[in-house]
Amino acid sequence: MRILFVGDIVGKGGRRAVAELVPQLRREFGCGLVVANGENMAGGGGMNGKCIRSITPAPAVDVVTGGDHMWDQKDFVQEIDHFPWVLRPANVYAGQPGRGFGLFKTEEKVEVAVISLLGRTFLNNQADCPFAAADRILAEIGGQSPVVVVDFHAEATSEKIAMGRYLDGRATAVFGTHTHVATADEQVLPGGTAFQCDVGMVGARDSILGRAIAPVLQRFSTGMPARFDVVNQGISLHGTVVECDPASGRARQVWRVARNFD
Ligand SMILES: [Fe+2]
Ligand SMILES: [Fe+2]
Repeated sequence: MRILFVGDIVGKGGRRAVAELVPQLRREFGCGLVVANGENMAGGGGMNGKCIRSITPAPAVDVVTGGDHMWDQKDFVQEIDHFPWVLRPANVYAGQPGRGFGLFKTEEKVEVAVISLLGRTFLNNQADCPFAAADRILAEIGGQSPVVVVDFHAEATSEKIAMGRYLDGRATAVFGTHTHVATADEQVLPGGTAFQCDVGMVGARDSILGRAIAPVLQRFSTGMPARFDVVNQGISLHGTVVECDPASGRARQVWRVARNFD
Protein backbone atom coordinates (compact mmCIF):
# COMPACT_ATOMS: atom_id res chain seq x y z
CA MET A 1 0.00 0.00 0.00
CA ARG A 2 1.25 3.48 -0.85
CA ILE A 3 0.57 6.93 0.56
CA LEU A 4 1.59 10.24 -1.01
CA PHE A 5 2.57 13.09 1.28
CA VAL A 6 2.74 16.60 -0.24
CA GLY A 7 4.71 19.48 1.31
CA ASP A 8 3.43 22.95 2.21
CA ILE A 9 1.05 24.19 -0.51
CA VAL A 10 1.77 27.89 -1.09
CA GLY A 11 -0.99 30.16 -2.41
CA LYS A 12 -3.17 29.89 -5.48
CA GLY A 13 -0.34 28.61 -7.69
CA GLY A 14 0.32 25.79 -5.24
CA ARG A 15 -3.38 24.89 -5.03
CA ARG A 16 -3.70 24.78 -8.82
CA ALA A 17 -0.64 22.55 -9.12
CA VAL A 18 -1.99 20.18 -6.45
CA ALA A 19 -5.47 19.97 -8.02
CA GLU A 20 -3.97 19.02 -11.38
CA LEU A 21 -0.83 17.03 -10.51
CA VAL A 22 -1.92 15.03 -7.47
CA PRO A 23 -4.59 12.94 -9.27
CA GLN A 24 -1.91 12.03 -11.86
CA LEU A 25 0.65 11.16 -9.17
CA ARG A 26 -1.93 9.12 -7.28
CA ARG A 27 -2.51 6.98 -10.40
CA GLU A 28 1.14 6.84 -11.41
CA PHE A 29 2.35 5.63 -8.00
CA GLY A 30 -0.80 3.71 -7.04
CA CYS A 31 -1.39 5.72 -3.87
CA GLY A 32 -4.55 4.99 -1.89
CA LEU A 33 -4.33 8.12 0.27
CA VAL A 34 -2.89 11.62 -0.12
CA VAL A 35 -1.95 13.86 2.80
CA ALA A 36 -0.87 17.47 2.16
CA ASN A 37 0.23 20.31 4.39
CA GLY A 38 -2.10 23.27 3.83
CA GLU A 39 -0.83 25.91 6.26
CA ASN A 40 0.15 28.34 3.45
CA MET A 41 -2.71 27.66 1.04
CA ALA A 42 -4.58 30.96 1.37
CA GLY A 43 -2.36 33.69 -0.07
CA GLY A 44 0.65 32.18 1.69
CA GLY A 45 -0.79 32.21 5.22
CA GLY A 46 -3.44 29.93 6.66
CA MET A 47 -6.36 28.29 4.91
CA ASN A 48 -10.09 28.69 4.41
CA GLY A 49 -13.06 26.70 3.13
CA LYS A 50 -12.63 27.85 -0.47
CA CYS A 51 -8.99 26.75 -0.57
CA ILE A 52 -9.78 23.41 1.05
CA ARG A 53 -12.56 22.71 -1.47
CA SER A 54 -10.19 23.48 -4.35
CA ILE A 55 -7.86 20.59 -3.44
CA THR A 56 -10.12 18.11 -1.60
CA PRO A 57 -11.57 15.55 -1.66
CA ALA A 58 -9.79 12.75 -3.55
CA PRO A 59 -8.65 12.24 -6.28
CA ALA A 60 -6.53 15.18 -5.20
CA VAL A 61 -6.02 15.40 -1.43
CA ASP A 62 -7.71 13.32 1.30
CA VAL A 63 -6.22 14.85 4.45
CA VAL A 64 -4.90 18.39 5.03
CA THR A 65 -2.47 19.06 7.88
CA GLY A 66 -1.61 22.33 9.60
CA GLY A 67 1.25 24.27 11.09
CA ASP A 68 2.25 27.52 12.73
CA HIS A 69 0.17 29.52 10.18
CA MET A 70 -2.98 27.51 10.95
CA TRP A 71 -5.09 30.49 12.07
CA ASP A 72 -3.77 33.24 9.79
CA GLN A 73 -7.18 33.46 8.05
CA LYS A 74 -9.34 34.89 10.80
CA ASP A 75 -12.65 33.25 9.83
CA PHE A 76 -11.18 29.77 9.74
CA VAL A 77 -11.74 29.36 13.47
CA GLN A 78 -15.48 29.18 12.70
CA GLU A 79 -15.02 27.05 9.59
CA ILE A 80 -12.67 24.26 10.60
CA ASP A 81 -15.32 22.03 12.14
CA HIS A 82 -17.00 21.72 8.70
CA PHE A 83 -13.87 19.95 7.45
CA PRO A 84 -13.17 16.83 9.49
CA TRP A 85 -10.36 15.90 7.07
CA VAL A 86 -8.43 19.03 8.04
CA LEU A 87 -6.11 18.71 11.05
CA ARG A 88 -4.52 21.45 13.13
CA PRO A 89 -1.41 20.67 15.18
CA ALA A 90 -2.29 18.41 18.09
CA ASN A 91 0.08 19.89 20.69
CA VAL A 92 -1.54 23.32 21.12
CA TYR A 93 -3.82 24.99 23.68
CA ALA A 94 -6.67 22.67 24.61
CA GLY A 95 -9.23 25.33 23.68
CA GLN A 96 -8.33 25.50 19.98
CA PRO A 97 -11.06 24.29 17.60
CA GLY A 98 -10.54 21.35 15.28
CA ARG A 99 -8.55 18.23 16.03
CA GLY A 100 -4.94 17.16 15.80
CA PHE A 101 -5.32 13.64 14.49
CA GLY A 102 -7.84 11.44 12.78
CA LEU A 103 -8.46 8.08 11.17
CA PHE A 104 -8.99 8.09 7.41
CA LYS A 105 -9.76 5.29 4.95
CA THR A 106 -7.60 4.67 1.90
CA GLU A 107 -9.07 3.65 -1.47
CA GLU A 108 -8.29 0.06 -0.39
CA LYS A 109 -10.42 0.68 2.75
CA VAL A 110 -7.40 0.49 5.04
CA GLU A 111 -7.60 2.73 8.08
CA VAL A 112 -4.74 5.23 8.38
CA ALA A 113 -4.11 7.48 11.37
CA VAL A 114 -2.76 10.90 10.46
CA ILE A 115 -1.26 13.13 13.17
CA SER A 116 -0.30 16.81 12.87
CA LEU A 117 2.41 17.98 15.30
CA LEU A 118 4.24 21.27 15.76
CA GLY A 119 7.89 21.59 16.72
CA ARG A 120 9.23 24.02 19.32
CA THR A 121 12.90 24.56 18.50
CA PHE A 122 13.52 27.92 16.73
CA LEU A 123 9.76 28.33 16.35
CA ASN A 124 8.25 31.17 18.26
CA ASN A 125 5.22 29.37 19.58
CA GLN A 126 3.75 28.03 22.76
CA ALA A 127 3.22 24.46 21.67
CA ASP A 128 3.25 21.65 24.21
CA CYS A 129 5.89 18.96 24.05
CA PRO A 130 5.37 17.24 20.68
CA PHE A 131 7.02 14.03 21.91
CA ALA A 132 4.61 13.66 24.82
CA ALA A 133 1.72 14.55 22.49
CA ALA A 134 2.79 11.80 20.08
CA ASP A 135 2.85 9.28 22.94
CA ARG A 136 -0.61 10.34 24.09
CA ILE A 137 -2.13 10.14 20.63
CA LEU A 138 -0.56 6.77 19.81
CA ALA A 139 -1.95 5.42 23.10
CA GLU A 140 -5.37 6.81 22.20
CA ILE A 141 -5.30 5.31 18.71
CA GLY A 142 -4.28 2.03 20.32
CA GLY A 143 -4.43 -0.84 17.86
CA GLN A 144 -7.15 0.79 15.74
CA SER A 145 -4.73 1.45 12.91
CA PRO A 146 -1.22 0.07 12.48
CA VAL A 147 -0.62 2.60 9.70
CA VAL A 148 0.29 5.98 11.21
CA VAL A 149 1.50 9.04 9.29
CA VAL A 150 2.94 11.97 11.24
CA ASP A 151 3.39 15.47 9.81
CA PHE A 152 6.01 17.06 12.06
CA HIS A 153 5.87 20.76 11.25
CA ALA A 154 9.13 22.05 12.63
CA GLU A 155 12.12 24.25 11.89
CA ALA A 156 15.14 22.42 13.29
CA THR A 157 16.46 19.35 11.47
CA SER A 158 17.68 18.04 14.84
CA GLU A 159 14.19 18.17 16.37
CA LYS A 160 12.75 16.46 13.30
CA ILE A 161 15.35 13.68 13.26
CA ALA A 162 14.78 13.24 16.99
CA MET A 163 11.05 12.78 16.34
CA GLY A 164 11.76 10.26 13.58
CA ARG A 165 13.98 8.26 15.93
CA TYR A 166 11.54 8.66 18.83
CA LEU A 167 8.68 7.19 16.79
CA ASP A 168 10.77 4.63 14.90
CA GLY A 169 8.81 1.38 15.00
CA ARG A 170 5.66 3.15 16.22
CA ALA A 171 4.75 5.16 13.11
CA THR A 172 4.71 4.25 9.43
CA ALA A 173 6.11 7.63 8.44
CA VAL A 174 7.39 10.78 10.10
CA PHE A 175 7.61 13.53 7.50
CA GLY A 176 8.81 17.04 8.19
CA THR A 177 7.19 20.19 6.81
CA HIS A 178 7.56 23.96 7.35
CA THR A 179 10.97 24.79 5.85
CA HIS A 180 9.66 24.55 2.25
CA VAL A 181 12.92 22.95 1.05
CA ALA A 182 12.99 19.21 0.35
CA THR A 183 15.83 17.39 2.09
CA ALA A 184 17.70 14.44 0.58
CA ASP A 185 17.62 12.24 3.69
CA GLU A 186 14.55 10.11 2.97
CA GLN A 187 15.07 6.66 4.46
CA VAL A 188 13.41 3.81 6.27
CA LEU A 189 14.75 3.82 9.83
CA PRO A 190 15.74 0.49 11.47
CA GLY A 191 12.39 0.05 13.26
CA GLY A 192 10.41 0.43 10.02
CA THR A 193 9.49 4.12 10.06
CA ALA A 194 9.91 6.13 6.85
CA PHE A 195 11.52 9.48 7.59
CA GLN A 196 12.43 12.71 5.82
CA CYS A 197 13.39 15.99 7.48
CA ASP A 198 11.38 18.09 5.08
CA VAL A 199 9.17 17.14 2.16
CA GLY A 200 9.48 20.62 0.59
CA MET A 201 6.69 22.75 -0.85
CA VAL A 202 4.31 23.23 -3.74
CA GLY A 203 5.48 26.69 -4.70
CA ALA A 204 7.40 28.82 -7.14
CA ARG A 205 10.92 27.93 -8.23
CA ASP A 206 11.82 31.61 -8.73
CA SER A 207 11.05 32.63 -5.18
CA ILE A 208 12.30 32.56 -1.62
CA LEU A 209 10.19 29.86 0.05
CA GLY A 210 7.30 30.73 -2.29
CA ARG A 211 7.53 34.54 -1.85
CA ALA A 212 8.77 37.18 -4.30
CA ILE A 213 12.54 37.48 -4.17
CA ALA A 214 13.01 41.29 -4.20
CA PRO A 215 11.13 42.18 -0.99
CA VAL A 216 12.74 39.32 0.93
CA LEU A 217 16.17 40.50 -0.25
CA GLN A 218 15.29 44.03 0.74
CA ARG A 219 14.33 42.97 4.24
CA PHE A 220 17.44 40.84 4.68
CA SER A 221 19.77 43.51 3.32
CA THR A 222 18.25 46.62 4.92
CA GLY A 223 16.26 45.35 7.91
CA MET A 224 13.30 47.38 6.66
CA PRO A 225 9.80 45.88 6.53
CA ALA A 226 8.49 44.70 3.17
CA ARG A 227 5.40 42.90 1.91
CA PHE A 228 6.18 39.33 0.90
CA ASP A 229 3.86 38.59 -2.03
CA VAL A 230 3.34 34.98 -3.07
CA VAL A 231 4.62 33.98 -6.52
CA ASN A 232 1.90 32.05 -8.35
CA GLN A 233 3.68 30.88 -11.48
CA GLY A 234 6.59 28.58 -12.23
CA ILE A 235 5.34 26.12 -9.63
CA SER A 236 7.01 22.85 -8.65
CA LEU A 237 5.41 20.18 -6.50
CA HIS A 238 7.48 18.31 -3.94
CA GLY A 239 6.11 15.22 -2.27
CA THR A 240 7.17 11.87 -0.87
CA VAL A 241 5.67 8.42 -1.37
CA VAL A 242 5.82 5.75 1.32
CA GLU A 243 5.10 2.12 0.62
CA CYS A 244 4.06 0.11 3.65
CA ASP A 245 2.61 -3.15 4.87
CA PRO A 246 -1.00 -2.40 5.88
CA ALA A 247 -1.06 -5.23 8.43
CA SER A 248 2.03 -4.20 10.42
CA GLY A 249 2.22 -0.53 9.45
CA ARG A 250 5.93 -0.93 8.68
CA ALA A 251 7.36 1.12 5.85
CA ARG A 252 9.08 -0.78 3.06
CA GLN A 253 10.27 2.01 0.81
CA VAL A 254 10.21 5.76 0.59
CA TRP A 255 11.01 8.04 -2.30
CA ARG A 256 10.86 11.70 -3.22
CA VAL A 257 8.69 13.01 -6.05
CA ALA A 258 9.19 16.36 -7.79
CA ARG A 259 7.12 17.70 -10.69
CA ASN A 260 7.03 21.00 -12.51
CA PHE A 261 3.50 22.28 -12.99
CA ASP A 262 4.14 25.27 -15.25
FE1 LIG B 1 4.90 26.56 5.46
FE1 LIG C 1 5.13 26.65 8.94
